[in-house]
Amino acid sequence: MNVPTRRLPFLFFASILLALVIPMAGQTPAPATADPASVQGGIYDPALDSKLDALLRQMTLEEKVGQLVQYSAGQPTGPGTGRTDYQDMIAKGQIGGLFNITTARDSNAFQKIAVEKSRLHIPILFGLDVIHGFRTEFPIPLGLAATWNPTLVEKASRVAASEASAAGVRWTFSPMVDIARDARWGRMSEGAGEDPFLGSAMAAAYVRGYQGSRLDAPDSIAACAKHYVGYGAAEAGRDYNTTEISEPTLRQIYLPPFHSAVNAGAASIMSAFNSLNGVPSSANPYTLKQILRQEWGFRGIVDSDWTSVGELIPHGIANDGATAAKKALLAGVDMDMVSSLYHDHLAHLVQSGQVPEAAVDEAVRHILRVKFALGLFDHPYTDESKESAAMLRPESLEIAQAAAEQSLVLLKNGPDPAGAPLLPISASVHKLAVIGPLADDAGNMLGSWAGLGRSDDVTSLYSGLVSHLGKENVLHSKGTGITEGSDQEMAAAVETAQKADLVLLTLGEDAGAMTGEAGSRSKLGLPGRQQELLEKVVATGKPVVLILFSGRPLTLPWAFDHVPAVLAAWFPGLEAGPALVRTLFGQSNPSGRLPLSWPRSVGQEPLYYNALSTGRPAGDVDLSHPPKTGEEKYLSRYIDEQNTPQFPFGYGLSYTTFRYGPTEISSKELKASALNVANSQSALTATASITNTGQQPGVEVVQLYIRLRGTSIAQPVRALKGFERVALAPGETKKVRFNLSSETFAVWTDQQRFAVEPSQVTLWIAPDSAHGSQASLEIVP
Ligand code: NOJ
Repeated sequence: MNVPTRRLPFLFFASILLALVIPMAGQTPAPATADPASVQGGIYDPALDSKLDALLRQMTLEEKVGQLVQYSAGQPTGPGTGRTDYQDMIAKGQIGGLFNITTARDSNAFQKIAVEKSRLHIPILFGLDVIHGFRTEFPIPLGLAATWNPTLVEKASRVAASEASAAGVRWTFSPMVDIARDARWGRMSEGAGEDPFLGSAMAAAYVRGYQGSRLDAPDSIAACAKHYVGYGAAEAGRDYNTTEISEPTLRQIYLPPFHSAVNAGAASIMSAFNSLNGVPSSANPYTLKQILRQEWGFRGIVDSDWTSVGELIPHGIANDGATAAKKALLAGVDMDMVSSLYHDHLAHLVQSGQVPEAAVDEAVRHILRVKFALGLFDHPYTDESKESAAMLRPESLEIAQAAAEQSLVLLKNGPDPAGAPLLPISASVHKLAVIGPLADDAGNMLGSWAGLGRSDDVTSLYSGLVSHLGKENVLHSKGTGITEGSDQEMAAAVETAQKADLVLLTLGEDAGAMTGEAGSRSKLGLPGRQQELLEKVVATGKPVVLILFSGRPLTLPWAFDHVPAVLAAWFPGLEAGPALVRTLFGQSNPSGRLPLSWPRSVGQEPLYYNALSTGRPAGDVDLSHPPKTGEEKYLSRYIDEQNTPQFPFGYGLSYTTFRYGPTEISSKELKASALNVANSQSALTATASITNTGQQPGVEVVQLYIRLRGTSIAQPVRALKGFERVALAPGETKKVRFNLSSETFAVWTDQQRFAVEPSQVTLWIAPDSAHGSQASLEIVP
């Protein structure tokens, strides 16, 4: 156990305290999580800590403050700051981190100044938003989440780390682990969707991939789980908006993916822009100190989001820069991204006794710890001769293609005129038309935050089809741009459709303008004239496959009623074309599943499957019309919309079909008193036999959900607690087994801790969050 000696007394007393609390078995308090040193082993090494303490003793106050200062020295990714004198500042030891520098040459040039000219030669930590690839672009994170394949996400992040590190970037501001329950929020595209269990699995996978087995390996980069915390709950889906989150929801929904990232060894956390229950996240000691440091044992860097320290002023909790700097630092923000307020005020705040120097020391320690862990003191430079060979390696492209294929979610696969499913495209289709603004839009395939991805590296759907079928067999017409188009283009597209046996219609969003940061939308339909194009093409009577490119679910009731086949492609990355072509022609069978609830209309938002019940649930009542006289009116419902989503969380079709056998459980009764939430051993096994009942090999994403009734605080109507991708040959049956630990049944209680409480448990093994075969058990005291 890596315990620094100065912490021993604390741990000793903490364990005595724990021993006093623990006798109420099944009631283990949340704060007593695993030993911090082992949790944060990836970035914590006592030998390095003694080195950093020795270094800290040599530092002047100004040099200490310098380590806490971070600027963007490249393409800005936030409001401009006007500062450019970085060389000079580095030489004086006034900068600890720079970001948005994207080449080994540029980072080496800055590093040389830090290492050779600054008094203590402390290397700079270079960061970048490597969100879903550096040069090899993978699907956007929402698409990666739709793979339900953490192993693949880990591989993709490993590729991103090897490319980024070759360019001198040793720190990525990823993964974004914000839970997103509202599709209006543009940044839904950057995360893993609405579910904390899936989100936690993805969070850990990204961290493992970026950080590798050793952080000091030259191809490892430090991860940064962001935006801590609750940023995804922005009211009305409007970016940067305030959030109000109850303690149980914070603990059970928004915090778990961060905790998972920390447990996976994440080297850093980014404090968010939003206020949480009135307290801006970049000045919140409760979340940053109590939960993150004390309860979880986090030892890495807390970096503020871009100018979020300065934004404490418009938030209204600081009236000047000095107060903002003081509040952020004392709350636990170690590094000031871009605000420049730590640089401007911290030294004076310490000298005037308003901020204890120990608080600065602690922040410096977090930053130096990560620099030491990355091996920057021994190897501050990047080998420029290896940079280009690290990019776009064939094996990286293979992972990009696999990820793109697995991210595709088949939403509908209705019949062609002969009554067979439209996909995969039948051999009888000779002339194919590909229509729509996104058919040959390489740039948009990259998605938002595409690192150094280049549209030249992308194969669009159109180019993929041409390689597959020959140019003469692929008719192409844009029909309209994403946001505007002309009558002539529209008419030409209709003419093109008329000449084809089958139309692939590619519609959706502009990745840069409509998704990602500051990309909130109040309308979730197709922008511009795309709906008109859709209706005109469908009116030709030709079979239509709609391929949606988007960073969120789009509300398209007309399309889902009138178009036989619909594929959600998100933004698939640079292998968009090959992945789509292989899927459309059946070489790859769709296995993506929705990481979110797909709304019918924007008025349903926020919409998520793991909601609490109400006292007046609508149950099985037919909600397709307003309540008629004599029907019950006083239910939790809309008078003009269903409660259910268009497609539920976890949903996705395949070219084959699967049958679920009954859900079997190893026990009908568990004892709460025997279930210690810190115990990861299996408390219950649940199994079901899954059979491929169709004609094609396929992958089913088998999901396990639970509901608990009778707990001290109401629990969601369903909560995902397990999933597995299962490959099945035609006719094959596999028994899928889930080992559920005590943690599966633990809830945040009215005693303000995680515990397993006596309750009735319903458990489903299911193809999605709305179906499944059910079993029940009881948790007795
Ligand atoms: C602001 C964004 O919110 C954050 O996600 C990003 O990492 C920083 N800018 C740096 O670009």
